[in-house]
Amino acid sequence: MSLTHMDGPTDGGPAAGGQALATGPAAAEPLLRLKGVSKHFGAVQALFEVDLDLPAGQVTALCGDNGAGKSVLTKCIAGIHQPDAGQMFWQGQPIHIRSPKDSAALGIETVYQDLALADNLDIVQNMFLGRERQRRFILDEDSMERAAAETLASLHVTTVRSIRQPVATLSGGQRQAVAVAKAVMWNSKLVLLDEPTAALGVAQTKMVLDLVRRLKSHGLAVMVISHNLNDIFEVADRIAIMHLGRMVAQDRASAFDRQSAVDYMTTGGSSREVAASASTTRRD
Ligand SMILES: Nc1ncnc2c1ncn2[C@@H]1O[C@H](COP(=O)(O)OP(=O)(O)OP(=O)(O)O)[C@@H](O)[C@H]1O
Ligand SMILES: [Mg+2]
Repeated sequence: MSLTHMDGPTDGGPAAGGQALATGPAAAEPLLRLKGVSKHFGAVQALFEVDLDLPAGQVTALCGDNGAGKSVLTKCIAGIHQPDAGQMFWQGQPIHIRSPKDSAALGIETVYQDLALADNLDIVQNMFLGRERQRRFILDEDSMERAAAETLASLHVTTVRSIRQPVATLSGGQRQAVAVAKAVMWNSKLVLLDEPTAALGVAQTKMVLDLVRRLKSHGLAVMVISHNLNDIFEVADRIAIMHLGRMVAQDRASAFDRQSAVDYMTTGGSSREVAASASTTRRD
């Protein structure tokens, strides 16, 4: 039991910039592509025709100020919200994600900082929650314990003392690591992390960012929501910036500098040249 997503990274070609729109499955297709996704809650238009590409083997940072629509977009991908309009493509094929079950079946795991784990259960129980292994009608504790330990080791998570300790006794970074390891163990293809480092100290943040890099090196697509520019520029291959429900910029990370990223986040636009690359998505 371990990591089986060795599909290898995509080449980061034209699809990474959000321009190419192929009609069938192809190597350059992002794992997940959103086109024109809109969502409103009563009078609040939370998402306006949002396009987003999440390529395999790359980390995409989803950024934006409070209320920009990042969590709503994530919940549309996770199957918690249904978009009012727009399309989603999984490896080029049109898909409809109608529930969290549909999302999980595709190989999408969402990791929330606080809600991901059950405090009263230990690490192994958390990693197998709802998917426990049985042998002759009793729980196969040995096999679950081995698989959990192997997965944590493969991600170089070495700071937990015992995989039988309750999750309530873990630090924030360790909890995050267990939540990520759980996602990896279930052969996810896309991991969505909502503010994974918001409450973490320097060392724990480093551990989570290392984990994110490892997921990417295993060929997964990773989307990280973050307000922290240090984190974003440290791990992101691509940056997607939302402003008031719109995707205002989406490009490889090297097309941005800190100032242009802040400009897009706070005003929805930037006059700086570094971000004025041909493949930057603008919607006015
Ligand atoms: N369930 C809901 N019902 C009504 N409005 C909602 C709901 N969820 C989100 N909204 C609204 O949609 C908009 C986008 O919210 P969202 O939570 O996606 O922001 P965010 O980018 O995640 O912000 P933050 O950085 O603060 O987490 C906000 O105006 C918010 O008030
Ligand atoms: Mg949010």
